[in-house]
This record gives sequence, structure tokens and C-alpha cells, in this order.
Amino acid sequence: MADQRVSVHGMWSSRAVFIMAAVGSAVGLGNIWKFPYITGEYGGGAFVVVYLLCIALIGIPVMMAEILLGRRGRSSPIGTMQRLAREENASNAWVLLGYGGVVAGFLILSFYSVIAGWALAYVFQAASGGLNGISAEGAEGLFGGLVGSPGQLLLWHSLFMLMTVAVVARGVRHGLERAITILMPALFVMLVIMVGYAYVEGDFARGAAFLFNTDFAKVFQLCTGPAEALDCSFSGEPLLVAMGHAFFTLSLGMGAIMAYGAYVPERASITGATITIAAADTLVALLAGLAIFPIVFASGLEPSSGPGLIFQSLAIAFGGMPGGQWFGTIFFVLLVFAAWSSSISLVEPAVAWLVDTRGWRRGSAALLIGLTAWTLGIGSALSFNLWSGPEYQLFGKTLFDLKDFLASNIMLPLGGLFISLFVAYSAGRHMALDELSIQRQHLFNLWWFVIRYIAPLGIVVVFLNSIGVF
Ligand code: PHE
Repeated sequence: MADQRVSVHGMWSSRAVFIMAAVGSAVGLGNIWKFPYITGEYGGGAFVVVYLLCIALIGIPVMMAEILLGRRGRSSPIGTMQRLAREENASNAWVLLGYGGVVAGFLILSFYSVIAGWALAYVFQAASGGLNGISAEGAEGLFGGLVGSPGQLLLWHSLFMLMTVAVVARGVRHGLERAITILMPALFVMLVIMVGYAYVEGDFARGAAFLFNTDFAKVFQLCTGPAEALDCSFSGEPLLVAMGHAFFTLSLGMGAIMAYGAYVPERASITGATITIAAADTLVALLAGLAIFPIVFASGLEPSSGPGLIFQSLAIAFGGMPGGQWFGTIFFVLLVFAAWSSSISLVEPAVAWLVDTRGWRRGSAALLIGLTAWTLGIGSALSFNLWSGPEYQLFGKTLFDLKDFLASNIMLPLGGLFISLFVAYSAGRHMALDELSIQRQHLFNLWWFVIRYIAPLGIVVVFLNSIGVF
């Protein structure tokens, strides 16, 4: 039965194509923009260690579960959960997992597109020589000028959303597939060059120490205020953010990977694919950290300066580098592509659902979803200017921060929790054995143990810890 099912959206032509697409989804602003800035905010090495542990103990096993559900169901995440719940005689309430993912996708896209818009704006800045010879203050001013202008932010946000809709309308495979296979490796090479530059010109020792020296006391502390007068208190927030980021960066817990999993050929190994995807994603994030922090320290920026961190530090780096005008332009173009291949996967679960279950045309579905996310995104853009004041904040967070927090740190891990619970308890061993077809029994047993106990318990413990239960 499951063996003969084919997705109506077509299939990836090979396992390698699936891996490229999933890496395209995973590698994006999360690795290059968000990882350095939250690592900076939460104090460096200890945060990185917790994040890596979350990738290994929760992210990888949950990704295997999410792909196997997708391949088994061969439908949109909502359709897949409906179908599998029926087949496994489980409650129909499991479809909520699919709907939750669609909502999370909207929330994420509505701020993701604004940040991708910054990258678009920097392509033009770099190309026109606007970064040449820029000082630290100049870079701060440039960034401040961009985010301070609602008009500019809305313009770039609209442009990026249009790009996303255009590709999704054409179908993922025809849309970006070819471009990604060239551009992702190019981004990787570019990052290695940047690390080389940071090694020579930046304060590499300090940057690397910040990223890798682990002071565990810091994981449980949240520090605010300027460096001279840091105010630290114990908090579960850094742990929650590290776990949330592990989900965010791997595109897990909202159905993107499940939707892509639906197009995976039957014979492909899920385990091997997952490890490749997670390794590539982690490597890109660490390279980004190594490229950025040496520059941050050498130019006197604050590691905790927030979402503008990479835009300011990279502007300084490109500004001082020989040929920086070219390198900068190419880098930001590649960053836009990385964001693009991620944003299309944010939209795919909802589009696949409208097409599968509602009989919509792909183009109309993409347009409706893009328009909704664009509208929601207006609030994210205004969070940096007109709506940045305390009167527009809730729990001390702007709309932008709130959406990121809710989607990344709450909804994605919750999605991951329910994916593990469904696979481990509602569906049971036979389905997983069938789909994973792991030859070595002890490897399967190890994964099975992790997905039954470690991953769900880990998520619950981090949640409880964050609300102060222990
Ligand atoms: N993983 C993407 C990134 O790191 C973001 C993303 C999250 C994409 C969830 C799809 C689903 O940029």
C-alpha cells in the first residue's frame, strides 16, 4: 500500500535531489543571520554546546521521524496526518499537527521575508560601492538608516515575498532546483573565504574562543545591560532558545521537511540523508560564526547587538577587503538565494494542502498564502521603527520578536514533540521499521529509544525549565 503511493506534486528525481532541496530549506538566514546573533546575545560557547546537543539528540532523530511520516503519507502534512492517523487507528486530532505547522509557517515567513529583504537591500549597497571603506560607526548608521525606514523595509519585504510566490507557483522542482545545486556550494566556498579573511584581519583568537569556550554557568543566565554593568540572573530562556533554534535551523516541526519527504523516492535511505542535511547545516552555521565574531571583536562591535549583528560586521569586513565590492555583492546575492530556498519550503506545506485537498491551482494557492504572509509581515517591518516603542510591545518584545519566539521556541518544538509521540506511540514500531529499513538492528534500536524517550522528554524538560518548574 504505502509502497505504491505517489505524490500528486511529482517526486524528486533522486535521493541526491531531495538532499539538496532539504539542505536548501535548512540552510538559510537561520544559519548566517540568526545563529550568530543569538549566540552573541546568549553569551557564546555554552549556548553553542547546548544548541549542538539539541541538534544531535533531538533534531536528527525528529528529522528522521518527520521525513518518514512524509514519505509514508505522500501528501501535504495535513493530508499525511489525516491519512496516517486513519491507517494506524489513531485519533483524527493528529491532523492538528498539520494545521499547527501551517500556522507556524505563516508566522515564520512573515518575519523571515523582512530579514531577507535586508539582505536584498545589502546586495544593492555592496554593488554600488556603499560599503567601500566603511567604518564601524558608518556600518551602524547604514543599518540603522535601513531599519529605521518603514518604506524601504516594506519595499524589500514585498520584493522578497514576490520572489517566493513566483517560485512556489511554478512548483518546487522546476522553480529553484537547478539554481540551488550551484548556489549552495558557492555560498559554502564564500563562507570559507570569509573565515580566511577573519583569520587574517579579525581578532580570530577572541572570536573562536567566544564561540567555543564553554562557561556552563552562562547557559542558565540571562544577562542584560551594557558590558560594564551586566545584570545577570538565572533563567531557562537560553536553553529554550537553543532548542528552538535547533528546530528552526533544521526546518523541523512545522511540516516543511514532511512536505519535502512526501516527494522522496521509496528506496532512498532516510538515515543517511538526515545526517548529511544536519551536518551541512551545522557546518554552515559554525563557519558563519567563525567569519563574523573575529570581525565583531576587532571592530569593537557588541556581540549582543541583536538582529543587525551580521549586517554591521559583514559591511565592515567587505568595506575593508580588497575587492570587497565584488565579494560583498556576491555574498549577499548568495545569502538571498539561501533565504529564498528556505522561504519556499515555509510555504510548501500550505500550498500542497490547498492543492491536494481543496483542488486549488498551485499559482492561486501560492498567491493567497504569499499575500497573507506579506500582510502579517507588515507588523514585523514596523517593529524596527514605528512600532518599536514599549507601547507596542508585549512581554517586553516587539511584534517581530514575539512572532519569532512563539514560532521558533514554542510551536516548532511542540510540533517536534507531537511528531515523536505519533511515530513512537500512535503508529508504532512496524511503521518506522518499514520506512527506515535500517539494516543494522542496533542502530534502529538506538533511534527507537531516542524517539520514544530522549527526544520527547528532552523537549518537555526544556519547556518546564523555561517556565521555572525546575
Ligand atoms: N531552516 C531555515 C533557516 O535556517 C528556516 C526555516 C524554518 C525554513 C522552518 C523552513 C521551516 O533559515
